[in-house]
Parts: sequence; C-alpha cells; structure tokens
Amino acid sequence: MTDVTQVNDKISIERQGDIALIIINNPPVNATGQVVRQGLQDAIIRLNEEGTAKVIAIYAEGRTFVAGADITEFGKPPQAPSLPDVYNIIEDSIIPVISVMHGTALGGGFELGMATHARIGTKGLRVGLPEILLGLLPGAGGTQRLPRIAGIAFTLDVALSGRQVKAEEALEKGVIDRLVDMPPRNAALQAAQDVLDGKLVTRHSCDLDVVPDEKTLADTAAMLKAKQPHLFSPHKIVEAVAASSLPRTEGLKIERQAFIDSMDTPQRAGLIHAFFGERAVSGIPEAKGDTREISKIGVIGGGTMGSGIATSCLIAGIPVRLVEVAQDGLDRGVATITKNLEGAVSRGKMSADQKEAALAMLEPSVGLDVLSDVDLVIEAVFEQMDVKKEIFGKLNTVCKPGAILASNTSYLDVNEIAACTDRPQDVLGLHFFSPAHVMRLLEIVQGAKTAPDVLATGFALAKKLKKVGVLAQVCDGFIGNRILAHYVKTASYLVLDGASPQQVDAALEGFGFAMGPHKVGDLAGLDIGWMTRKRKADSRNPNERYAGDVADRICENGWFGRKTGQGYYIYDQGAPVPNPEVATIIDEVRADKGITPHDFTDEDIVDRYMTAMIVEATRVVEDGTAKRPVDVDMVFLFGYGFPRFRGGPLAYADTIGAKELVGRITEYAKEDSHYWQVPDLLKKMADDGTTFADLNKGA
Ligand code: CAA
Repeated sequence: MTDVTQVNDKISIERQGDIALIIINNPPVNATGQVVRQGLQDAIIRLNEEGTAKVIAIYAEGRTFVAGADITEFGKPPQAPSLPDVYNIIEDSIIPVISVMHGTALGGGFELGMATHARIGTKGLRVGLPEILLGLLPGAGGTQRLPRIAGIAFTLDVALSGRQVKAEEALEKGVIDRLVDMPPRNAALQAAQDVLDGKLVTRHSCDLDVVPDEKTLADTAAMLKAKQPHLFSPHKIVEAVAASSLPRTEGLKIERQAFIDSMDTPQRAGLIHAFFGERAVSGIPEAKGDTREISKIGVIGGGTMGSGIATSCLIAGIPVRLVEVAQDGLDRGVATITKNLEGAVSRGKMSADQKEAALAMLEPSVGLDVLSDVDLVIEAVFEQMDVKKEIFGKLNTVCKPGAILASNTSYLDVNEIAACTDRPQDVLGLHFFSPAHVMRLLEIVQGAKTAPDVLATGFALAKKLKKVGVLAQVCDGFIGNRILAHYVKTASYLVLDGASPQQVDAALEGFGFAMGPHKVGDLAGLDIGWMTRKRKADSRNPNERYAGDVADRICENGWFGRKTGQGYYIYDQGAPVPNPEVATIIDEVRADKGITPHDFTDEDIVDRYMTAMIVEATRVVEDGTAKRPVDVDMVFLFGYGFPRFRGGPLAYADTIGAKELVGRITEYAKEDSHYWQVPDLLKKMADDGTTFADLNKGA
C-alpha cells in the first residue's frame, strides 16, 4: 500500500521505504504560488523532523516541472514564505534532496533544481532563467547558485538572454547530473535508489567555489552600459552574479535587493503586460470554437510577402502550393523561399534536413487552377483593389466548397473583396508583417460576413505558425497601419517645424525604439510612402496640414533610402550618416512655407510622437476596430518594434494618465486644431479616472 500524505492542495509526500517523494501538482505549469511554497517548506521540515526518510526526491505532475514564480502574484504584497527562504531550507536539508525536472524548468523552477543536491533531467527538458524577459532577475538564488554550478560566463549568458537551454547542453555544463528517458516519477524513484546505493553523488551548491572571472563580468557590464542603458534589470543581473563570490547569505541578500528594486520598475509592469497580453489576444470567444481542417495552403504571389508567408507555413510543416502568373515570377518566389529557409538554418532555427523536408512540401505552379485542392488560400499580390477582385472572383470558381479565402491586404476593404465571391462567409483578412517568416504579428481581419469557424481557424493557424493572432475589424489600415498612418505625420511635422530627422530618430531610439522613423523609412523604401501619397493626392483633406513635402522632394531626386544608397541618411559604408542634401531640402521647404523653425527637446519629440500614437490607438478602441487596448498593444509589440519593456502604446498611456494626455493634446491643438483632437473616449477616461487597464478588464 502506498503511503501518501497531502501536505496541502498542491503538495503531497509519498513514502516508498527509505525514499520520500515530494510531488508538486499545480496545473497548468506548476508555478510556485504561495500554496506551493508553503507546501514545499512544510514537507521538507516535516521529513527532516521525522528523520525516517534517507533521501527525498522532488518531481512535478503534468506537462512540465515548475515554470517559475507565479507571475500573477507580482506587483501584489508578498506573501510568506518567500521563494529564497524555501530554497534555503531545501538546500540546508540534512536528508539529501534530489530533483527530477521535465518539460521546461524556468526561473524559480530551475532555481528549485539548483537548491537540491542532485538534478536529473528527463528527455526534452529545457532549463532557463527568463526573468529578464519580465524585467526581473533570478530572485531565488539563481544568480548565486548557477555560478557555483556552471561558472560565471554561462550564468551571465543564460540570465541575460533568457534563452532556454536544451537538456544535452545542461548535461554538458554540469547543470544536470543525468539525462534520462523515462517519466518523472520513475526517474525520481530510480535516482533516489541510486543515492541510497551510493551510485549518485549529492552535494550542496553553496559549498562549491565560484571560479573568479572578473574580465567577463567587467566586459559584460561595459557592453550593457553601451547597448542597453535604458533597461534596469540586465545591469542588476551582473551586479548580483558578481556577488556570487561572497558567502551565500551575503550574495543572496544582494540578489534579493536587486530583485525587489526591479519589481518596482515600470519596465517590469510593461514586460509582464506583454507576457499576459500575448496570451490574452487569443483568449477571446472569436478565437475559440470549431475550426476547419487546414492540411494544404495555397499562396498567391511569389514576391517578398508571398514568399515569406509560404516560408512561414513550410516551417510549420504545412504543405504549400505557391502560385504566380508567370514562370519567372514563380522562380523568383522559389528562390526567395529557399533563401529564407537557408537563413533559418544558419540562425539555428532548423536543421539542413528539416530545410530539405520543408522544400519538398513546396509545390510551385503557374495559374490559379491548381488551387482546387487547398483548404486555405492566402492572396499576397500588390495592393490594388481591381487585381484582388479579379483573383477572388476566380478563386470563387476554382476553390473547393468550404475552402477559406484570405487576403493579405494591409489596408483594403475585406468586405469589398468578399463581395466578389458568392461565399463571403469563407473570406477574411490575414495580414502578415514583413518579413512574414520572422515577424510574429498576424492581424486576423473579420469581414461583415466571415463565419465564426473561419475566424477561429485564423487563430488556430496563427498558433501553428507560432504567431500572435490579433482580431481586427475592417477599416483603412486595420489596427496597426491605421495608427501608423496617423502618428508618422508627427515626425514630419516635427522636422518641418525645427527638429532634424536625426534628432527625431535619436530621441525615439532613446525611448526604446530600435530605429527612429526616418531610419525605418530609409529601410523600407521611401518610394512606398511616395506612391501612396500620390495615389491619395486627390482625396487629401484640404484642412489638413500636408506632411509629405520633405519626403516628396527627397524621392524626386531618386533617393529612396538604403536601396539607392541614400535617403534621410547616406549608406556608403559603416554607420549611416545624415544626408546633408536633406538638410538643404528641409531649409527650402521651410522657406517656401514661411515656417520659422524652433527648437524641440528630445522630451518634446517623444511626447508629441507618443501622444499622436495614443490618440489614434484610442480611436481604434473606441470604434471597435480593436476589441480591447491590449490588442493594440500586442499589434505594436509584435509588428512595429514598439519597445517591449513599455508594454505597448496604451499600457504606456496609462503611465502618463488620461488627464495629462488630454492636457497635452489641448496644448498642441493651439498650433494645429485639425490634427490634434481629443478622442471622446480619452476625455471620458480623464473625467471618470478610468485607465486602459480597466478597459482590458471589461470595465
Ligand atoms: N506564473 C503564472 N502563470 C503562468 C506562468 C507563471 N510563471 N507561466 C505560465 N503561466 C500561465 C499562462 O499565462 C497560461 O495561462 P492561460 O492559459 O490562462 O493563458 C498558462 O499558464 C499556460 O501557459 P502557456 O500558454 O504559455 O503554455 P505553453 O505550454 O505554451 O508554455 C511555458 C509553457 C514555457 C512554461 C510558458 O508558459 C512560460 O514561458 N512561462 C513563463 C516562465 C517564466 O517566465 N518563469 C519565470 C517566472 S519569474 C521567476 O521565476 C522569478 C524568480 O526567480 C523567483
């Protein structure tokens, strides 16, 4: 008869002779919430007081070992016992304690393993310290015990990247003592027996000496200072790891303080919003329910977008029929896909064999007729309504009943496209972002008649492609491009009124964007915006201040950015330098328009740019284009390079407050009352004190 004691809801002890198993059971990911911490502490104390067990083995039920601290507790008052205290009690246990880790042992989960006296990994295990991705640092001994186990350089690598280390590497580095291929329970019983038989050695991590590595510490600190001056926790990680040469109590004290300090930062709040937001966007009813089976996808268009979409599907193991109008376009598409897959191999995302297997699933063809057997078609041809209409009209006759017909349009009316078929219920927008096999955002655009199972299939596809699917309603530009079209004008107005393009870029890079808007324009190609401005010239609002004068003149010179060697910057060799001719163009435009330039501080620049973004983002929520503020935030994090540590434009808006934002807009409106208008929703929020976080909760 097995002897099982339930310590509490989540922790039990099972005795098997001299062996005591401590079993963690806290679905879905065995996070170390208060009940788990208390149960672990009580179990270890109880077994040591009883003194009848000769070895203790900890393992977890379910799909994974412990995935870390319970993130939902962060930002709330801490509840005893703390994780570091519990792990010290485990490490100090008189009875040897071993752990069996399976699935993903992350953060506090990996640190639990480090506190035990021997670690077993089961096949497929990944360990890691992802706290940095949440704006934190390992706060339960990881910065102190991992240097003792595997050295300072390895600890810094793992803690600063947040990467998941595969079991084989963990074994090689001595992070786990054994790698076995059996269920965690069997592994726990066997390893415990081996301890009893003297075949598995146990030791206390804190008794191991840290090999000094001052150079790595100093080099890393200098690199972070140069590259990530605006982030908080990476610097704290280095400080805490440096303290690992101190006795355990002192080192842990320094780690604890650094953890508490990190917890107090807005960066931590922004990154945790990003963690839950990524999951929340698909937590809506539209993403659930019945789906249609997708075993083959047709992609129309072998350009950059079509090839990227096809690559993404192939990487996910979905066979693709790639269709073009002529053989040369098709050949170019296949070449791009091959290059994309080779890039994935060189980045370590897939093996050479996997690349070959992916290419074998690609069936290139000329003409739409071959699409009769696919379950989903993604059209990715250029943005011209008449071309799209013609294609969808043909798909209507070619595709089998029930096939899903998707357009990758980035702003056109999906309802108008759907109306060219007699199955508008099967039509939706699937808006990928370039490069489509890399960028994680997928806007899932719901047409007026899109069937629920078609929409849910869009979300299932996003998951299969490892993308973040966000629901959007039909409008010009959907969520992301509509907001972008509004706020990029601010950058142009700032330049017209006195700032230089490089000052605008530098200010926004200081805010956290990887690149300022002028560098982005140069990278994407300035001709794209120029063509759009020309196309929309007739429908331009005469009351609106034109934002394109400088960019138009740059393009008239044939300077389209990187691809032509110059744009706002000159790209000879090395780092881009500001284009002096652009400064002349700006002076000329200002003179033509009678503008007297004035100075802007970097703070002014960031405030105006971000306020403009927030204004349009608020309208997008107000009119229902986005379901909730968090959907806008995730669009910007995963599609537009918005700094993740700020959580997204509307999470950032909450850090400013609606009242302050209304005040700013009112002030700016004194200069341009057409562009700067307070959205009704923001006004209401300022009046009643609501935040975007409240709206996310359905308030
Ligand atoms: N705390 C609370 N909830 C968590 C959690 C955690 N640490 N990790 C995951 N969850 C929740 C998710 O929000 C999700 O909830 P919903 O189903 O309600 O959306 C559910 O568990 C399942 O998670 P995923 O959908 O992400 O499942 P997955 O199988 O795709 O991935 C995982 C599993 C790899 C463990 C992934 O969830 C993950 O990376 N989790 C976070 C791990 C982490 O960051 N740990 C460090 C925490 S900080 C820390 O530990 C500090 C310290 O040093 C003390």
